[in-house]
Amino acid sequence: MTALSVIGCGYLGAVHAACMAKLGHDVVGIDVDEAKIASLQAGRAPFFEPGFPELLAESLATGRLSFTTDMAPAQGRSVHFVCVGTPQRAGEFAADLRYVDASVDSLAPFLSPGDLVVGKSTVPVGTAARLTEVVQAVQPEANLAWNPEFLREGFAVKDTLTPDRLVYGLPAGAAGDRAKQQLDEVYATPLSTGTPLVTADLATAELVKAAANSFLATKISFINAMAEVCEATGADVTLLADAIGHDPRIGRRFLNAGLGFGGGCLPKDIRAFMARAGELGADQALTFLREIDAINMRRRVRMVDLAREVCGGSIVGARIAVLGAAFKPDSDDIRDSPALNVSAQMQLQGATVVVTDPEAVTNARKQWPGLRFADTVDEAAAGADLVLLLTEWREYVEIDPTELGRIVGEKRMLDGRNALQPSVWRSAGWTYRALGRP
Ligand code: UDX
Repeated sequence: MTALSVIGCGYLGAVHAACMAKLGHDVVGIDVDEAKIASLQAGRAPFFEPGFPELLAESLATGRLSFTTDMAPAQGRSVHFVCVGTPQRAGEFAADLRYVDASVDSLAPFLSPGDLVVGKSTVPVGTAARLTEVVQAVQPEANLAWNPEFLREGFAVKDTLTPDRLVYGLPAGAAGDRAKQQLDEVYATPLSTGTPLVTADLATAELVKAAANSFLATKISFINAMAEVCEATGADVTLLADAIGHDPRIGRRFLNAGLGFGGGCLPKDIRAFMARAGELGADQALTFLREIDAINMRRRVRMVDLAREVCGGSIVGARIAVLGAAFKPDSDDIRDSPALNVSAQMQLQGATVVVTDPEAVTNARKQWPGLRFADTVDEAAAGADLVLLLTEWREYVEIDPTELGRIVGEKRMLDGRNALQPSVWRSAGWTYRALGRP
């Protein structure tokens, strides 16, 4: 058992803290947000994440997990994870590192010789080397490692307890050997069950995360580019994805064409990566990511164009129901949500848009006061001229078209996620349209 601190208790940090307690460690979660800490300490999850409320309750009950806004309880613990956010800087592509810097600055005075600071946040390459200097200026005998996190929202608990792989970015020499030993102790359980481990230098570990997210974004934009060509020719992108996905070198996962990627990671991470490459004089290497971003943003515009087309050329005065506000299913996260972006564009073009979502309505209401929200599908769809499926929650994918047909004004369905069976909807009398499908 190791005594750990986890600094930053958002999606990443709160889940990491609870999972580390589940693995048997003694963990304190630290965050400056008093409301978040009060909620976590009371066993209430401040965000929607399947399996997390149960894990939080279980870990708190063992007495091995606690939360505080005070940095002092980090003292006397030997491993300190930095899990704070690195959002996109306003008006720029680059990442905003103010939370990472503030965390390390306030942690440093509480470090003892031999302690290990472990960065998990997604940062521009070179940050870890810089932070090592900040740490060692205060505690020369502490070390810093980088251990990027690959968890997906909606699967955060599973991805943390049983990761695909572990990556350690380590300092050179004896400090690196000691850091590896400390991390091996923390991750003894996943390592004992065969989780692959890649050890590297600090810069490589930082780059692994940027490269992984860039590759995933590229896969999604690639298939969405194919969807554009399919639309021009009457071909079906879902069959195309199935066919190319059978090639194990390509693989079918992350080839779902539709409205494209959003969320708090992929969009800002590819932009921050481009910005960092520019600073390093390697901007040419990543110019393709501009195109990946552009293809992705075009999907949202295309969705609005399709809505206009299906409504006979104009959506002025149309009553439109939108199913989904979260950037993906099984999440209440609305950061850079394609669904809300499309909703707002349609509203701006004169439609009356009513959005519903199983979990994200509370968050969406706060940030998008100009849009209308409904708590149920029936309320959102009552009398609608058009229905858009923009986040593929299971309960929306399983909607019975005949029942929904009784509520709406016009039976028109736009499937922004290629999640519905066209034949089922058409045989129930609906006009069904999707991106990249005839
Ligand atoms: C992502 C990475 O997957 C994860 O490894 C990293 O740690 C953080 O960023 P996340 O943002 O939780 O995770 O969501 P993800 O499941 O990757 O989906 C991102 C977006 O891509 C969503 O908007 C989703 O709807 C979209 N997507 C995903 C597609 O449009 N098509 C696909 O085939 C897959």
